[in-house]
Amino acid sequence: ATTLGASAAERGRYFGAAVAANKLSDSTYVTILNREFNSITPENEMKWDATEPSPGTFTYGNADRIVSHARSRGMSVRGHTLLWHSQQPGWAQGMSGTALRNAMMNHVTQVATHFRGQIHTWDVVNEAFADGSGGGRRDSNLQRTGNDWIEVAFRTARAADPGARLCYNDYNTDGVNAKSTGIYNMVRDFKARGVPIDCVGLQSHLTNSVPGDYQANLQRFADLGVDVQITELDIAGANQAAVYGTVTRACLAVSRCTGITVWGIRDSDSWRTGQNPLLFDNGGNKKAAYDAVLTAL
Ligand code: XIL
Repeated sequence: ATTLGASAAERGRYFGAAVAANKLSDSTYVTILNREFNSITPENEMKWDATEPSPGTFTYGNADRIVSHARSRGMSVRGHTLLWHSQQPGWAQGMSGTALRNAMMNHVTQVATHFRGQIHTWDVVNEAFADGSGGGRRDSNLQRTGNDWIEVAFRTARAADPGARLCYNDYNTDGVNAKSTGIYNMVRDFKARGVPIDCVGLQSHLTNSVPGDYQANLQRFADLGVDVQITELDIAGANQAAVYGTVTRACLAVSRCTGITVWGIRDSDSWRTGQNPLLFDNGGNKKAAYDAVLTAL
C-alpha cells in the first residue's frame, strides 16, 4: 500500500500519530493525518490537567473533538493518559494520602467512563518507574499513596471500560535495562495475580540509535502474554531514516507488537523543538525517514 496506515493494516497493525486539537483546523496537517494514519493519540487533551481542571469538574471538549475526528474516519484512539506524575492539575499536585488516592481513582473512573467504548487502548499509568540502575518506582505524589496504586488503577479502569486494552507506558525502556526489567517484573506479577493488564507501551523517544536488543525486549514482554505497542516514536540526530526502519522491522518481527505511533506529524509539530525527529518536514513533505518506514512496513 502507499500510506503508513494502509501498509500497517496489511500487516495486521495500526500506524498512528499524536494529534493536537488546536491543529485540526490546519489543512496541511489534517490532509496528512487523514491520508497516512489510522490511529490517533491525543497529545495533551486527555491528561489530568486538561480533563479535570478543578476537583470533580470534567472538561472533555478538546478530547471529544479528537475522538470524533478519529472515529468518523475509522481511526482508532489511544487514550493517553489516566494517571501520570506530570501535567496534573494544581489541586491534585497539592494532595496526598487517602484524599489523593480517592481523587486519583475517581479520575480514572470518570474519564474512562466518559470515553467508554471509544478507546482502543488506554495508557492507564504513564512513567511510574525511575531511571537509573535501581529498577524501582519513581517517587511521586501518586506513588506516596501506596505501592498498590498502579494495580488499583488498572482494576478501576477495567471496571469503567471493559472493552479497552489497558497499557502501562514508559520511556528509556527500549532495551533490556534496569528500568525495563523493573516494569517486566511488575507485569509478570500482575499476570500471575490476575491484575488486568493487556499491553506495555514503549515510548521510544530516541536519538541516533536504537538499542541492539530492542526487538528482544519487545519479545520478552510479549512472552508474558501482553501486547506491546510503540507509543511515542520520534528519532532525533544521525541515522534517522535507518533507525526508523530498524524500529519498524522490530515491531513487525514480534507478532504481539500491534502498532506504532509517532509523536507528531511534521517536525514543526514535535515537542522536541529544533530536533526534527518526525516523518514529515515543516512543509508537510515526506522525509527519508518516511520512506524508510513505508519500505519496512
Ligand atoms: C508532551 C507533549 O508532546 C507536549 O506538548 C507537552 O508540553 C508535554 O508532554 N512522554 C509522554 C507524553 O508520555 O505525554 C509527553 O508529551 C512526551 C513525553
